[in-house]
Amino acid sequence: MSATARPQVSALSSSRIRDIANAGMGRTDIAAFWFGEGDEVTPQFIREAAQNALADGETFYVHNLGLPQLREAVAAYESRLQAISTSPEQIAITGSGVSALMIANQLIVSPGDKVVVITPIWPNIAEAPRLLGAEIVRFPLSVADGKWSLDLDRLLDALTPDTRMVIVNAPNNPTGFTIDQDTQKIILDHCRKQGIWVLSDEVYERLIFDGSNAAPSMLRHAEPDDRIIRVNSFSKSWRMTGWRLGWLTLPRAMMADVPKVIEYNTSCAPSFIQKGGLAALTDPRGEETIAALKSGLTASRSTLLDGLARMGRIEIPDADGAMYAFFRIDGAPDDMATATTLVTDYGLGLAPGSAFGPEGEGWLRWCFAAKPEKIAVGLERLERFLNR
Ligand SMILES: Cc1ncc(COP(=O)(O)O)c(C=O)c1O
Repeated sequence: MSATARPQVSALSSSRIRDIANAGMGRTDIAAFWFGEGDEVTPQFIREAAQNALADGETFYVHNLGLPQLREAVAAYESRLQAISTSPEQIAITGSGVSALMIANQLIVSPGDKVVVITPIWPNIAEAPRLLGAEIVRFPLSVADGKWSLDLDRLLDALTPDTRMVIVNAPNNPTGFTIDQDTQKIILDHCRKQGIWVLSDEVYERLIFDGSNAAPSMLRHAEPDDRIIRVNSFSKSWRMTGWRLGWLTLPRAMMADVPKVIEYNTSCAPSFIQKGGLAALTDPRGEETIAALKSGLTASRSTLLDGLARMGRIEIPDADGAMYAFFRIDGAPDDMATATTLVTDYGLGLAPGSAFGPEGEGWLRWCFAAKPEKIAVGLERLERFLNR
């Protein structure tokens, strides 16, 4: 008998973004846009809150569901932002958005369950249920009239009563696709009738470029006992990627079981990290941070989109959210080969679209959470590649 992991683990894909990033490892001359994070540190007031908590000796285990003050602050934030009424009792603090996703899956998914995932998608979203033995049905977005769009009728056809869960991520990584409220409502109504769980990943809710303050949450349409779980994170809105702090909003009927699942994952998110999150939500500088982040992203986004549009040969469907441009180059159908050549010969680090599933083959993802000057360097390198 060989000493190997169970088949579901061996079947997981390794990250194609990492494969490309590894090709450029150790080089300092790469303009890298492959990962989903910016290059600025977490604001000082958030770091200070965590430092103070550590200095005060907050080094102990805390409640599985998180610090009561943080659960209250999250519920108040979410209620205010989305004009809903979330109770602190529905909130579970997790050690990252990734962990929130995994815990949600562990709460719902059994081996053999059918899980429908709207794609292309950040790999962890489809791999988490697969790790638990679920059968994944991928439902691709399409490009219609130059815009990423969802064929709602076809999606509803795919959401049959034997479906355990559908996972929606909007604003979407990698396409930036956002979902409108009418569509959300129709999906939720349908799932309610069929008994299907909805897992809504809304970690990019604040990164929306249609003039609104937040992308609409699926929770806006939820009834108290609906089968809906929302995943959120401190990573993207407050520049806290390395902290590993997120949360889940869950139906009340589930709350007796959630602490058990958290217990066997991490037991709790670290107390001093949660204090950083508390500062992000309750200090007025939290919203100022988001406003500054958004205005920076807006400038970088237009530099990137204008630059790509000027080059010709590039198809880039419109989308309003997240922090990525997802595009393809006419005459460069192999995204892995293109991304490899870009990094090794031109010093430009982009994520290959196939990292986000077969629907992403031929596409490239460029994270625009960078200064416009750095984006301009990247654009110049891409142009050299196109003119080679
Ligand atoms: C769609 C989506 N969900 C969740 C996450 C998880 O974020 P984190 O684990 O940093 O909280 C990410 C990170 O890139 C993401 O893109």
